Amino acid sequence: MENLIINHSKPLYGEVTVSGSKNAVLPILAATVLTSGENIIHDVPELEDVKIMEEILSTVGSKISSDSPNSLKVETTAIKNFEIPYELVTKMRASILLLGPLLARCGKASVSFPGGCAIGSRPIDLHLKGLSAMGADIEQSNGLITASAKKLIGKKIYLDFPSVGATENLIMAAVLAEGETILENAAIEPEIVDLSTYLSSCGAQIQGAGTDTVKITGVPELKGSEHTVISDRIEAGTFMIASAITGGNVLIKNVIPAHLKPITAKLKEANIEVSEELNAIRVKGGNLIKNVDIKTLPYPGFPTDMQAQFATLMTTSAGNSIIVETIFENRFLYVPELIRLGANIKIDGRAAVISGNASLNGAKVKATDLRAGAALILAGLVADGVTTVTDLYHIDRGYEKLDQKLSALGANISRIETE
Ligand code: UD1
Repeated sequence: MENLIINHSKPLYGEVTVSGSKNAVLPILAATVLTSGENIIHDVPELEDVKIMEEILSTVGSKISSDSPNSLKVETTAIKNFEIPYELVTKMRASILLLGPLLARCGKASVSFPGGCAIGSRPIDLHLKGLSAMGADIEQSNGLITASAKKLIGKKIYLDFPSVGATENLIMAAVLAEGETILENAAIEPEIVDLSTYLSSCGAQIQGAGTDTVKITGVPELKGSEHTVISDRIEAGTFMIASAITGGNVLIKNVIPAHLKPITAKLKEANIEVSEELNAIRVKGGNLIKNVDIKTLPYPGFPTDMQAQFATLMTTSAGNSIIVETIFENRFLYVPELIRLGANIKIDGRAAVISGNASLNGAKVKATDLRAGAALILAGLVADGVTTVTDLYHIDRGYEKLDQKLSALGANISRIETE
């Protein structure tokens, strides 16, 4: 096991390059099974979740190789196995993203039921309703969901909620379906646009990705393609807050500033200087941090994946702030850990009331999920004394070399082996 040891750090300074997006690369890798040719995917971040996705692809029969760091070659000449086992699904919920592509490519897909996870119950009813509308038979037994269809048929599907995963699964199912599928109230996250860009480069016909109405005209087959994954807006946002909370001055490179607007707007409101450059964003802290409220919402609202990090920033602000989480019902698991570091936060249902001016003090804390882990690291940078963060596997699932990148900016952070 490994822990992170973080000492109170001086203001972060310098430049950092953001990696490819976790939430874009996972559906894109899942989508490669729709194609029989060779795919070359660039800017693939080195993450535990990506390794699990590679394991899943190998299980279904894909050949994966790599000629250079952060690039993967994936080729799936034939599907050898359409069942994603329990062990892999419990390691990563995004395994469910194989349902649409496997069903579309070979007429059958079995995925172990993902169940809940730390941040909430996370049902997949919208994925299943959409596939069923396109003609799939869905059976649930012995913990497995099995979807089968000789041929999927395009349909008009209205999503009750703009679910990111359901939108992706249904786009992937529709690209090889017969006729036209129209997804209404679709999610509009940048990762959906990236998935559609990749699929279009393989020959798919998709219109309107990035709007709430996506029209997909099925084609008989898709070829392989070469694609570079967009940069990770959540990793970028985490560095923005690292610079802000330490009173630093950091240039964050390889970003798409438009994707960061909801975060930029809130940081500016909190009196942090943010300036956009071409493919980069500079964040300068050091002024009094104002208390501001946030409410998480689907894109382009404030991302739920940045909620814990922003809450940490607010513990150091000049007053009280209210954070409302509307996407996941259980995303305040990090709060008891922040309280162990000296924060004063009260939770009432989906709202957290955060008192500013906290004097944070180092302690041993546990990363309860991916973004909670990031939030605790940020707190450790400004807490007096030593903060030890345990359960790093959560952080390694979704941040590429986070501790090394922070260290290069001057953070006093190191990873140590423990018993
Ligand atoms: C994706 C992201 C995750 C991010 C989330 C919201 C990936 C791999 N993960 O997760 O990092 O936090 O978007 O931006 O891209 N829901 C249903 N029924 C469904 C599907 C979803 O009720 O069939 C609910 C969920 O329980 C949740 C909300 O819809 O309350 C949003 O979930 P969704 O957008 O699907 O998130 P994910 O795709 O799981």
